[in-house]
Amino acid sequence: MKVSEIEIPEQLKEILERAGYENLYPPQIEAIRAGALKGRNIVLASPTASGKTLVAELCIIYNILKDRGKSLYLTPLRALANEKYEEFQKYKSLKKRNGENIKIAISTGDFDSADEWLGKYDIIVSTNEKVDSLLRHKATWMNEIRTIVADEIHLLTDQDRGPTLEITLTKLMELNPEAQLLALSATVSNADDIARWIDGIAITTEWRPVPLREGVYYGGEILFKDGSAKKISLNTGRESLDIALEVVHEGGQVLVFTETRKASVEYGRHAANALSTELSDSQRSKLNTIAKKIMTSGEKTRLSELLAQQIKGGAAFHHAGLTGTHRKIVEDSFKSGMIKILAATPTLASGVNTPARAVLITSYRRYDPGYGRNPISVLEYKQLSGRAGRPKYDIFGEAILIAKTYEEREHLIETYVCGEPEKVWSKLSIENVLRPHVLSTIATGFAYTEEGLYQFFSKTFHAQQYDLKSLKLKVGRILKFLFEEGMVKPIKDVLSPTKFGRRISELYIDPLSAVIIRDGLHRRPSKLTDLSLLQLISRTPDISPKLYLRGRENSRLSAYAEKHYDELIFKPTNSSYVMLIYEQDYDDFLSDLKCVAVLQDWIEEMSEDDIFERYRVEPGDLLRLTQTAEWLLYATYELARLFEHNDLLRKLAVLRARVRSGVKEELVPLVQIEGVGRIRARILYNNGFRTMADLRRASLSSLTALPTIGTAIAKKIKEHLG
Ligand SMILES: Nc1ncnc2c1ncn2[C@@H]1O[C@H](COP(=O)(O)OP(=O)(O)OP(=O)(O)O)[C@@H](O)[C@H]1O
Ligand SMILES: [Mg+2]
Repeated sequence: MKVSEIEIPEQLKEILERAGYENLYPPQIEAIRAGALKGRNIVLASPTASGKTLVAELCIIYNILKDRGKSLYLTPLRALANEKYEEFQKYKSLKKRNGENIKIAISTGDFDSADEWLGKYDIIVSTNEKVDSLLRHKATWMNEIRTIVADEIHLLTDQDRGPTLEITLTKLMELNPEAQLLALSATVSNADDIARWIDGIAITTEWRPVPLREGVYYGGEILFKDGSAKKISLNTGRESLDIALEVVHEGGQVLVFTETRKASVEYGRHAANALSTELSDSQRSKLNTIAKKIMTSGEKTRLSELLAQQIKGGAAFHHAGLTGTHRKIVEDSFKSGMIKILAATPTLASGVNTPARAVLITSYRRYDPGYGRNPISVLEYKQLSGRAGRPKYDIFGEAILIAKTYEEREHLIETYVCGEPEKVWSKLSIENVLRPHVLSTIATGFAYTEEGLYQFFSKTFHAQQYDLKSLKLKVGRILKFLFEEGMVKPIKDVLSPTKFGRRISELYIDPLSAVIIRDGLHRRPSKLTDLSLLQLISRTPDISPKLYLRGRENSRLSAYAEKHYDELIFKPTNSSYVMLIYEQDYDDFLSDLKCVAVLQDWIEEMSEDDIFERYRVEPGDLLRLTQTAEWLLYATYELARLFEHNDLLRKLAVLRARVRSGVKEELVPLVQIEGVGRIRARILYNNGFRTMADLRRASLSSLTALPTIGTAIAKKIKEHLG
């Protein structure tokens, strides 16, 4: 079927043809035949890069041009939201019936806002969590949605984040019973289950734009699923590197998935060594430019130096220990073909679009701190292997698992290569993740009575897959907790959220975190300092990532606890007044304290590198930690206001600003300037530019004379001052 033959408005056809779409892909044809343009709800389960987004785009634009209402596109990640937002820009010139152009917005930030401005837009791209938070803020336009797209719907089965997606979709369907819902994924084997839930039709295809050959390597040979084999000549002493180099020599790029971060760095190093001897001058100079970009964005650290070094050789590593900025540079350079071999932990797979000629999976296990080494799921394997084969560049893609023994090879072929992804199962009944959703359902008026609450939960995917009884039991238990903690009050038969309950729901924190913060604010230690407040937030279940203790850290942190004993809100021993939820074993106490110590050093301006040396916390983790901590300090500020701890407000506000930027209090005003981070702020301050007045008096040349402050930054400083 040609694009010109679809029954869509002419102006849309023109845009699609201009964007290079001529013929529809088979899954797209199936979706249209199944009624995608007639408002049918659809679960589209179709391999990576098979064109699922275009189906969503067609429905979105079609519905908007028919004046049916706005569209909401949900993704699991900010990076994906950005990617979609960019892709949708091509529709900006389309005219609606009222003559106005289609307006597109992206919303991923600030979780304590209703963002009413979004109401003016036709297409809103967002993350699952952000939409959840918009619902909690009762954004008024939430019932004007006529197309809902849930991308990567298999996330429903994720323990941590699945329930949020599930509840968000349940609420959206409830608010917009007329809306068309499209659920997309490359890896669901039970699309029927999901289709039943959303009252739609399941479309499952195996079609790929580039065929995928899956195989397992063992003993000098790759054995493919179709029975064919390929010999690998062994030259470097590392078999998996030999496979990768062969692909590069044939003109391809390789994505290598490793079990740990460390292994990805190691692999990247060997790959760069091998590749660097084969580079042309022009390649070398382009790679040097990218390496320079790494070194000039963000703080210089041991990790960024390693990365820059590898990039110069044409390879790189990619894992969650890198900051988002560095990860983005690596992804872009891989997409543009400059980096030939990229060694990554499986975090990359759930990220943005990074196809490669070949995907190598060096270990079928993955390491998660706290959980240990575990085999990856088949669903995960399919996500990883699905990255192989770049449309328009490759005639086929290759996905290769590496086996260490003959038995392992047989096992991998059977389990992964010939396996089907596990079914997607609702994870809503995990009590910890259910708790905030029960509160928010009441706080935002999706249920007014206990019966209404059960009725709401009877519309979830969980209720579709399991018996409602066990879920009801848990919801009931949580409700009791919400009563006891004063978050919900029963007035006759009606469940009424208290001010406290409503604010917790809006602040997007776990009710348990709110209890810890509320009670902690009352239990003041004899000496209340920043450290006390940092311990308060580090104790909540919302703090993340969790920092694990390493061998010799116990004694150091015990000494730290002793030194700051008077400042601790939660003391290491279980004294009699300690309530059940405060009880924790000594290891947990110390691991919270590690978080406190890291944050404390951070706001005393310790460098990222020294923090790594001392705690083994990598820059990417540090950034995530400071972002969550900042959010929790904001929530603490708001709760302190609610409970009238007015004497703490200033302290909390300053601490939050310091945690955001990693600075002492004296630098807080300076880091408000765009382009001025903690390093530049410190340079300015130490050179006598301490206040806004100092900066106003300064000449442009006196600013540019300072290290790291070029003309562009100096101008920005002046602009900031007005
Ligand atoms: N009919 C078509 N003709 C040509 N190119 C197309 C067509 N449909 C989609 N594409 C292109 O194919 C690529 C992959 O499409 P898309 O991003 O929708 O994949 P997907 O099915 O969502 O895969 P994933 O599971 O990885 O998210 C895009 O670059 C898109 O522009
Ligand atoms: Mg997609």
